[in-house]
Amino acid sequence: MAKLIVNGKVIGEVEGGTKLGDLHHEIEKAGIEFGCTDGQCGVCVCTVKRGLECLEEPSEAEEETLWRIGEYEENRRLTCQLVVKNGACDIIELESED
Ligand code: FES
Repeated sequence: MAKLIVNGKVIGEVEGGTKLGDLHHEIEKAGIEFGCTDGQCGVCVCTVKRGLECLEEPSEAEEETLWRIGEYEENRRLTCQLVVKNGACDIIELESED
């Protein structure tokens, strides 16, 4: 279980295996916009401020979209594609620019 924080707002506890795309209603309320929820549009790009090690590595599809939209930093990820890893993890904190 990890505590998910988005733009400073606590969303709740997330278990290993949780896809953050499934929480897009809650996460949107905290200010990260979603479009396709399928890793294609890039609208949901965020900065992982804490807990990058708590997240599964990006899939090829996510990496392709990140490259296409010019995001090359390791901590820039597509929120809809994030999957929480199993195991001990305290905090996952995401931030969007606006
Ligand atoms: S909502 Fe389209 S890539 Fe995440």
